[in-house]
Amino acid sequence: MPAAWQRRGYSIAAMRRQARAALPRPVFDFADGGAEDERTLRRNEAAFAEYALLPRPLNGAAARDQSLDLFGHRLSLPVLLGPTGLAGLFWPDAERAAARAAAAAGTVYCLSHGSVCTLEQLAATGAAPRWMQVFIYRDRSFTRELAARAQAAGDDALVLTIDNQLLGNRERDLRNGFSIPPRFGARDLAGTALRLRWLARMRRDLPRITFGNYVRPGEPADIRTLAGRMAGLLDPAMNWADVDALRRDWRGPLLLKGVLHPAEAAEAAARGIDGLIVSNHGGRQLDGAAAALEALPGVAAAVAGRIPVLLDGGVRRGADVVTALALGARACLIGRPALWGVAVAGEAGVAHVLDIYRREIDRAMGLLGAARLADLGPDLLFRRQQGMPPCPTSRSSTATSISTTSPVSATPG
Ligand SMILES: Cc1cc2nc3c(=O)[nH]c(=O)nc-3n(C[C@H](O)[C@H](O)[C@H](O)COP(=O)(O)O)c2cc1C
Repeated sequence: MPAAWQRRGYSIAAMRRQARAALPRPVFDFADGGAEDERTLRRNEAAFAEYALLPRPLNGAAARDQSLDLFGHRLSLPVLLGPTGLAGLFWPDAERAAARAAAAAGTVYCLSHGSVCTLEQLAATGAAPRWMQVFIYRDRSFTRELAARAQAAGDDALVLTIDNQLLGNRERDLRNGFSIPPRFGARDLAGTALRLRWLARMRRDLPRITFGNYVRPGEPADIRTLAGRMAGLLDPAMNWADVDALRRDWRGPLLLKGVLHPAEAAEAAARGIDGLIVSNHGGRQLDGAAAALEALPGVAAAVAGRIPVLLDGGVRRGADVVTALALGARACLIGRPALWGVAVAGEAGVAHVLDIYRREIDRAMGLLGAARLADLGPDLLFRRQQGMPPCPTSRSSTATSISTTSPVSATPG
């Protein structure tokens, strides 16, 4: 019999509501919020509503297959867990819990540079496939060091995040006085008994929370020192030469995360990058940036199938995943939904979140008339502003220009 939280957590939005009730306000907002006016944060989700699906139910299939190959691994669903720093704030040992849930579900877990556990501790779980996310640091040898550690730990891919070289201006954190380590007043914990349960659960871990990968022997390991050092480490002058250097150092799939511009996408493919993640960091960095989904068609057109294109930002429904795949993404990543899952019930909560996506994708594919992910193409979509493609039997003068294979344009919105 499902637990109460599982019954109440019937959708990603319902899991978010439970996470909001379970976490102190500053902790919930740290994950939930975006930069400045949160325009890009809202735009990520809203962009999916700009597209409508055109079902072909007579292409019915008794069972749908949502598995895919990605960098030599067979994944059982096109939803991966993206990197989220300080996940260990939401549940004790959250990163390892989430990685185990991802592996059990047959998908990828990508560890953040800013994880609480170290990349070696994550590797020791044996959970796979496992990706590691890094930045370009002022001290390039630190980027090389992290890549070498990930290689030694047997990580399956390296993700270079390029949209975080300056820290985003997260005003919810400023309003809430969010600090690391977190400090709470009675007001932050008021409201639900669940927040006190979070405090009890985290009591042992909170004082020890730190950025595990940055701890160096003989140096202070407290999070305040490390956070200060980390912000100073990021180099806004990063450029393609750094990408090339990492390409030479890392033996295995190398992905760029935070690509929105088609010219950068084309350049990356030409320089031997193995995959792209179309992303605006979940609206946490440049407020006013395009929604990931808006940028996807341009990026997909620029790489023209040479390397896989993934997408994250605002993916909250199976139909969102289906929409992104129809527009050229190989798979999607999620950030906040996995954190909501882990905040509600640890490993079981993340498993539940992945299960929601799996069930919704299956239902959407079934209703759409798609038996395999390869069946998802732009012919199954139209964009609201462009209007529904005219009916081929109408006497409209545009009827001759109707393309039943691509009613959606391949240029960014
Ligand atoms: C709390 C939090 C921490 C994050 N930390 C990182 C990080 O360390 N590295 C990174 O590349 N992206 C980070 N991201 C961005 C996510 O990887 C992802 O791009 C974004 O959350 C996707 O949007 P979604 O949350 O709408 O799914 C973080 C996001 C959140 C919410």
